[in-house]
Amino acid sequence: MEPEIRIHADLDGMSSDAAQFILDAARACVEASGRFTLVLSGGETPVPTYRNLASPPFSEAMPWGNTHLFWGDERCVPPEHPYSNFAMAQEALLSRIPLPVENMHRIVGELEPPSRAATAYEQALRKFFGASPLAGDRFPSFDLILLGMGVDGHTASLFQGDHAVDEQNKWVVSVEGARAKPPVPRITVTLPVINSAQRIAFLVSGEKKKAVVQAIWKDRTKAMESYPAARVGGKGRVVWFSGSGI
Ligand code: 6PG
Repeated sequence: MEPEIRIHADLDGMSSDAAQFILDAARACVEASGRFTLVLSGGETPVPTYRNLASPPFSEAMPWGNTHLFWGDERCVPPEHPYSNFAMAQEALLSRIPLPVENMHRIVGELEPPSRAATAYEQALRKFFGASPLAGDRFPSFDLILLGMGVDGHTASLFQGDHAVDEQNKWVVSVEGARAKPPVPRITVTLPVINSAQRIAFLVSGEKKKAVVQAIWKDRTKAMESYPAARVGGKGRVVWFSGSGI
């Protein structure tokens, strides 16, 4: 399925469009299956989108009681640490919405060592999705995964040259994060999990990302050689929301 590209003049326009897309997906999924499984992205770009979701009219329309929130990646720090993707979402979204506590599925990034945190999250996902190797379940199919992209073309915490990019069996792995900003170990879902999602929404903004984004849009196959974000694309619908500078 070819990706859809939605170009906006600024971050506000992108964030409003993205919030509406999330609301539309939530309504459709809850109507169809009674629940909406949404994977949050980290970094800074999604913050205005999360704030939109936490404010009227979106906050009043979202089916929070049937929505389950997950994370695509997390830094290996405590949940109140300034590096934490959970902390960012807590401030921008979670603290402002009536999400049932049992519907919030945080990556416990502070577990030591990081490999233990990754295993624990994979086990939590398997439990939630009722997946079992015996049943031949390969990967969970989230309703919507939000992704960002770094200026180097990484997405989630999948960095070019890292073993995690090529992982084809595990759902969740830990990475050293030496090339990341901040350079701390991380926990990340793997590409097979991302590419099993029904919908994937990239949120990208800023002139520094333009060259990589355009390269992916122009020739994704060629871009795969350099940018993990180019390797996102599976059976689901992929939508790129771009803000200023792209
Ligand atoms: C993380 C994110 C990461 C992020 C990109 C873009 O934990 O850092 O998940 O993949 O989405 O680095 O970050 P910005 O939105 O801050 O540019």
